[in-house]
Amino acid sequence: MKTISILNFKGGVGKTSLATNLSFALTMRGAKVLLVDCDRQGNSSSLLPEGARAAPTLTEVLQGKASFNDAIRPARENLDVLPASGDLQEAAKHILMTGMRAYGTLKNAVARHQDYDFILFDHSPSLSSITEAALLASDAMIVPCLLEPYAVEGLIDMINKLGDTLTGLDHEVDLIGIVPFRLDKRYAMTKEYHDSLKEHFGERILHPVRTDGTVSKAQSLGQTVFEYDPRSNAAADFMALASLLVPEEVTA
Ligand SMILES: Nc1ncnc2c1ncn2[C@@H]1O[C@H](COP(=O)(O)OP(=O)(O)OP(=O)(O)O)[C@@H](O)[C@H]1O
Ligand SMILES: [Mg+2]
Repeated sequence: MKTISILNFKGGVGKTSLATNLSFALTMRGAKVLLVDCDRQGNSSSLLPEGARAAPTLTEVLQGKASFNDAIRPARENLDVLPASGDLQEAAKHILMTGMRAYGTLKNAVARHQDYDFILFDHSPSLSSITEAALLASDAMIVPCLLEPYAVEGLIDMINKLGDTLTGLDHEVDLIGIVPFRLDKRYAMTKEYHDSLKEHFGERILHPVRTDGTVSKAQSLGQTVFEYDPRSNAAADFMALASLLVPEEVTA
């Protein structure tokens, strides 16, 4: 089993799009996946119908009021979701007040769920005790990044901040790579930003995700791009990323 944090301390860069579509793509390659929504906005939770997002959510799990199992629900074949709700900051406060034991809740729960091939954490853009608890439970991470001015500087800053956080937690997380978002052949500048990312980070720069309206259209319907339009550019790009993680299709 691999536990992967999808994070960037910047907002709106593609974390949720990557977490949801990569999760689904991994199931298409035969993997069994759990997606844990760590953001009070609950955007990844919208893979679940509204009626299936009620408590217990991540809030109750982190407060010790519900078990990890009780909060997990099936979203698609081989894809389970542990939803987040708007009161997640209550859990953040609880962790800060309770200390080490609460920080370890997710790590301990994940260790008991070896039946998944992948557990993905969709992070919020802010660095909180929830971020730290999910990082402690992760052995790897993927960082989505927008192709925009100062993308390189922003990433260097983010990786330094993350390094300080991980040092504070006395925990190591392997950087699988950086996923450039919104490569757009109509805007030559996005190619330039992509080239400078590759110059600075080399092989850490993974397959890019092209600008594609399918991503937001699918999101607004609580779907993945594979369900909304399997022939879209975005579906091809997310599948290419899944193939990096599961090079050979898993046959159960
Ligand atoms: N490849 C793409 N092409 C076009 N739009 C995209 C693409 N990827 C993401 N988007 C859109 O960009 C917006 C931000 O994406 P997303 O919600 O995945 O970012 P996020 O990092 O999770 O944001 P937040 O920090 O608020 O959680 C969404 O409206 C999404 O539909
Ligand atoms: Mg998000």
